[in-house]
Amino acid sequence: MNLIQSPVAVIGAGTMGSGIATVAARGGYDTVVYDVSEQGLTRGLDTIRSFFEKSRDLGKLTAEEASAANARVRGTTDITDLATAGVVIEAVFEDLAVKKELMGQVESIVAADTLLHTNTSTLSVTAIASGLKHPDRLVGTHYCNPAPLLSLVEVADGRHTATSARETCIEFLRSVGKTTVVTKDRPGFIVNRFLIPWENSCIQALDSGLGTIESIDTAVTGALGHPMGPFRLLDIVGLDIHQQVATRLYEQLRDPRFFPPPMVERMVSAGDLGRKTGRGFYEYDNTRLFGS
Ligand SMILES: NC(=O)c1ccc[n+]([C@@H]2O[C@H](COP(=O)([O-])OP(=O)(O)OC[C@H]3O[C@@H](n4cnc5c(N)ncnc54)[C@H](O)[C@@H]3O)[C@@H](O)[C@H]2O)c1
Repeated sequence: MNLIQSPVAVIGAGTMGSGIATVAARGGYDTVVYDVSEQGLTRGLDTIRSFFEKSRDLGKLTAEEASAANARVRGTTDITDLATAGVVIEAVFEDLAVKKELMGQVESIVAADTLLHTNTSTLSVTAIASGLKHPDRLVGTHYCNPAPLLSLVEVADGRHTATSARETCIEFLRSVGKTTVVTKDRPGFIVNRFLIPWENSCIQALDSGLGTIESIDTAVTGALGHPMGPFRLLDIVGLDIHQQVATRLYEQLRDPRFFPPPMVERMVSAGDLGRKTGRGFYEYDNTRLFGS
């Protein structure tokens, strides 16, 4: 049963937005994806469609389920198409001014009871909500990347978030198969507090010659049971995003373990950002954001 009135609206068709839209459509919600960039929207929709096709080929979805999920997704570059959404899930650049302005714009378009979810890795949920007329309806969510494959979503209230908004957010996430943990509106929530220093130490291990990209990934998957090694994961996350998140957490927490190692800067300067540019630690024959 759908808990939220369809459509679910996702803003931003990048790595997280396309992953979250995949999750919503697979979970049975009509889903509209909005992006300011026509090119970004096209790539996001291509990633979503390829993911459903791959899920069908792997037998994770039947042909009917894959085709129905596909049919539930549509894209738009017109923000007024979000007017009828039951929930708007924002997944645009990690920039407070951009998110605040966008949420204000959304609030002027949608119904008074439409719920707002914001995805952030390092920003304050309270700060994102601060320009809203109704900050009580905004909840912070932090999906793990790739969102269609990893089940956990961290949920954080802003200072003025209504308990009912958070509870509905959690019910929605459960209805699309997610596991949730409630955390505080603090830099990095729970996961990035230990993931970022760990990824940095894997990069340092590589840079110091302790192992190769492949051997470190194999060691992690084989020994720790992770579904993918750090370099496969960083290629999906994007080296630019890792650099940005790590730097911002370092600036807020002043803990040197968060500071990105020099290899990250070298890769970002070279444009080797990961899957989205076709090359990161590994090389790819397409620039889809996740899946294959
Ligand atoms: N990449 C990750 O691993 C990850 C994980 C968890 C959370 N996050 C967070 O999720 C958010 C999105 O990250 P991402 O990696 O998907 O970014 P991304 O750069 O891959 O995609 C962002 C998309 O937003 C679009 N956009 C930018 N401004 C917009 C606007 N005003 N209106 C509509 N669309 C707009 C861009 O065109 C782009 O397609 C960020 O806040 C990030 O911190 C990222």
